[in-house]
Amino acid sequence: MLNFNFQNPTKINFGEGQIKIISKEIPLDARVLLVYGGGSIKGNGVYKQVIDALSEHTWFEFSGIEPNPTYDTLMKAQEIIKRENIDYLLAVGGGSVVDGAKFIAAAALYEGKSNDECNDPWDILAKNVPVTKALPIGAVLTLPATGSESNGNSVVTRDGNKLPFNSPLVCPLFAVLDPTVTLSLSDRQISNGVVDAFIHTIEQYLTYSVNGKVQDRFSEGLLQTLIEEGPKALLPDTKENLEVRANIMWSATMALNGLIGAGVPQDWSTHMIGHELTGAFGIDHARTLSIVLPAVMKVRKEQKREKLLQYATRVWQITDGDDNARINQAIRLTEEFFETMQVPTRLSHVDLGSKDIDLLIERLEQHGMTALGENNDITLDISREILTQAL
Ligand code: NZQ
Ligand code: ZN
Repeated sequence: MLNFNFQNPTKINFGEGQIKIISKEIPLDARVLLVYGGGSIKGNGVYKQVIDALSEHTWFEFSGIEPNPTYDTLMKAQEIIKRENIDYLLAVGGGSVVDGAKFIAAAALYEGKSNDECNDPWDILAKNVPVTKALPIGAVLTLPATGSESNGNSVVTRDGNKLPFNSPLVCPLFAVLDPTVTLSLSDRQISNGVVDAFIHTIEQYLTYSVNGKVQDRFSEGLLQTLIEEGPKALLPDTKENLEVRANIMWSATMALNGLIGAGVPQDWSTHMIGHELTGAFGIDHARTLSIVLPAVMKVRKEQKREKLLQYATRVWQITDGDDNARINQAIRLTEEFFETMQVPTRLSHVDLGSKDIDLLIERLEQHGMTALGENNDITLDISREILTQAL
């Protein structure tokens, strides 16, 4: 196992009826900015529950954070933060809203660098300027997928450039996970969430072995849970089942709260290539991943051989055939799982073809994504091979 430091500061409040707890989680003297997206929280009763819980607080609101949040939208929140002396953010929504709140929180207290060249908060993403201060954040999660409610990651888009940043200072202090609020999600959003969480787990698992038995078995448990429960959330007889929703919701948080990734190698190549597909063509985050991952598995078969065999045996219970046959079967079952979840597995499924690959490679280069993977050996040529494999 590799050395690691692990701390997750987010207090999780899980279960039906937990939204009211925000009245106690946020200090009474805080000046709160409630941030949310396009309004789904008004249709499903979440907004009402949140404002009821804030009845004793001084609060303001900022809405309109779009899926794959943009710098331009997020910067608009700075005006109300300054005007109203906001000192606490409450994000209510999916990963985009929580990620957006993280950028807003860091931008509000951004000091830049003394050399005057990094005066724009965008430099946190574009020039890796470290976050040194941020407003505190709480989250009410409405879409289980990203793990954003319990990690320090955020992804923001500006002019088609979709870039990530990470800081422990923007990790939510608390999160409310009420599975009932997920009942208003469309099938598409449910599928996206299950697939995103599945691939987060894979990217911290499918590398090379460092004998991290705890991490491996946690990951295998999460993968099996998502394989079992994900399809149920799409079937008429089981889709409203709150136990199914609860298991999906907790899996998604556990997949990216830092626990399974501590002390093991990680390979985020699927995500980094996927971000370019969203940035350039606007494809839903999870749908970029379901296209790229099977191709990564095929192209990196040799480098990932040992873990692919473990994945085949322990996650899919494949015991017949030689090593190659078992690996191929595991990749095929992964693709079938994605098909069951109704997400695309090929570039052609989203009307993209070989003519589009050059642009994606150009963008990867522009963003410094030239040495991806657990061994930093996925060069632009190999990314091209992966995208070609995904055609
Ligand atoms: O904006 P509203 O009206 O709320 O509608 C949203 C949005 O249109 C809707 N929705 C959310 N909860 C709902 C609901 N509709 C009905 N009922 C509910 N309960 O769903 C739509 C999509 O929401 P979004 O937040 O964009 O989805 P998701 O949670 O999948 O977040 C995706 C974003 O997270 C980033 C992605 O890149 C993308 O920008 N990621 C963040 C990560 C992190 N912070 O660790 C890691 C991930 O890999 C990912 O990159
Ligand atoms: Zn993701």
